[in-house]
Amino acid sequence: MSDEAKQMAARAAVELVQEGMRLGIGTGSTAAHFIRLLAQRVNAGLSVTGVATSEQSAELCTRLGIPLTNLDETPTLDLAVDGADEFDGALNLIKGGGGALLREKIVAGAAKRFVVIADASKQVAVLGAFPLPVEIIPMARQPLSLRLAELGAVATLRQTADGEPFRSDENHWILDCAFGPTITDPPGLARTLSTLPGVVEHGLFCGMTERVLLGSDDQAIVITV
Ligand code: A5P
Repeated sequence: MSDEAKQMAARAAVELVQEGMRLGIGTGSTAAHFIRLLAQRVNAGLSVTGVATSEQSAELCTRLGIPLTNLDETPTLDLAVDGADEFDGALNLIKGGGGALLREKIVAGAAKRFVVIADASKQVAVLGAFPLPVEIIPMARQPLSLRLAELGAVATLRQTADGEPFRSDENHWILDCAFGPTITDPPGLARTLSTLPGVVEHGLFCGMTERVLLGSDDQAIVITV
């Protein structure tokens, strides 16, 4: 999928930003387009503040001149914009491919409007071809792997290039859970995962997305439920 499509979606999201807004700022390659385009408007005089969903995005915002705040100072956000790994027709999402799902969900939850930017490769009929990231406490890895197997997933510990466990910004581990495209009841699975001891957060975002801005090479279309 072309980078232009991601950029087109990001451009449509930047058009939603208004003077004085408190923004949630996502993570990933599509969100990075949003940050770059937002920075152009900020450098042209737009006044906004942002809460970043990862150290990576915070670093990019700071480098490009977007003022950042945090949820202690700014607990309610007007608009959060983020990418997704998959979305279905009900706008349930899988997120966390970049490992930022916990902060992403906190920021999306603090926002009055949560808008997803994506290209067509993220649109699916049934979630689950993309392995679902589940953020965990390291001690719970083996019991959780067994429990996830009972739920139909093969859980693989995410690792860095040097073979060390990947650490999230909050210093947790991530199990990438291959369900296959079988997640027919995302809210039900989300509820079940949230009850498992040792699960800090999971990458199913249900009932949070106001709209998806779906980019193609020459336009972005709005998808709502
Ligand atoms: C980060 O943890 C993710 O949730 C990203 O939003 C997601 O992986 C989409 O990333 P891309 O925009 O790079 O595809």
